[in-house]
Order: sequence, then structure tokens, then C-alpha cells
Amino acid sequence: MIESHQFFKEHSYVVLENFIPHPLVDFFYEYSLLLSQRLAYKTSTKSGIENYSDKWDGDFDDTNGQFGSNAINFYGDPLMETLLIKSLYDIENHTGLELVPTYAFLRLYQNGDSMVKHDDRDSCEISATACLGYVSEKPWSIWLTDKNNNDIEVTQKPGDILIYKGCELPHWRNVFSGQHHSQTFIHYNPKDNINNNYKDGRPFFAVPKKI
Ligand SMILES: [Fe+2]
Repeated sequence: MIESHQFFKEHSYVVLENFIPHPLVDFFYEYSLLLSQRLAYKTSTKSGIENYSDKWDGDFDDTNGQFGSNAINFYGDPLMETLLIKSLYDIENHTGLELVPTYAFLRLYQNGDSMVKHDDRDSCEISATACLGYVSEKPWSIWLTDKNNNDIEVTQKPGDILIYKGCELPHWRNVFSGQHHSQTFIHYNPKDNINNNYKDGRPFFAVPKKI
């Protein structure tokens, strides 16, 4: 069987099942639902709005509708950035690269959301995205175009991760027909690369990019 880092070297992506094992992935999934509910409640109350900060609390659709018009987004979430830091050694092994962690992201997609075909900014040279859980009749695939211009459909179970060169392989999602879908993203740069965006340019992990 071909090793994951060999597959990654040849294809610029690799899919790994159960990267986040059960029951840890269930823990993350429940956390993402609580975080989203907390944000929705906070932004629905007068005192919550007065104390609300999109940078610290998360926001609804930070990308002008391009990445899911109803999606709930959390940049630099402390738990997800813990996953980012603690996964460094594994992601290095699966890619065969020496890496530096840049940032993590958590997103709860909603019914009707989609993601336009795009490639990522330079802090995402090595992107890894894992499904945490969903409520939907069928799983919601992410697509990417590989180096040979083939469109690849990746269907994930909770805990499965797709590692890919986010700046090189265009990726997208078609319209989501389920209720919600929770997904985490952890990003790295190759060490000594021109884009050595350690901590995504922040003084610490788990803080917003610009305050
Ligand atoms: Fe992306």
C-alpha cells in the first residue's frame, strides 16, 4: 500500500480516514454546535450585541457570500488551534514536509450554503480540513481539481481529513441540502518557505488576526 506522504507528493493531496478518532471528533462536533448557538444567542440579545466582537466571538459569513452565505465562522478558535498545534507532527508525516502552523478555522455550514471554486491565501499552502459531524441525509462532498485537471470528489465521515495544497489545487462545494455541516480547517506553511507565516502573523495562537 502506498504511503500517505508518497501519495501526497505525487498528487498534492491525500485523504486520511479517522484522523480525528472517536470519541474526540464527537467532542469537537458538540463543541462547534455550542459555540454556534452561543454566538446566535449573543447576537440576538441587547446586552450580547453591546459586548459582541466579530473578531473574538465569531461571525456570520465573513466572505461576502462566497464561502457559504449562512455559514458561521470562527477564526483562531482556541480548541481548533490546539488541534492545529498538536497535529503538526502527524501532518508533517503525512505530507513528508517540515511545516510551521499558521492558523485554524471552524465553520458551521447551513442549509443552502455552497463554496465557490477558489484557491487559498498564502498561509494555507498546506491545508487540512476535517469533517466534525453533520445533520443531513447524505454526506456533503468537497471537490478539488488535481494537478492533472481531474475533478476529485472527497466525501468525508466525521473524523476524516483531506490534506491538500490549498494554494495550488482549486476546491469548492456544491449546494448543501442538509441542516448543518461542521468542518474544521488547520493550515500550515512549509518551513523555510517564502510564505513562512508562523501563527499567521499574530503574536499568539488563539487570537484574532487583526484587533
Ligand atoms: Fe479554501
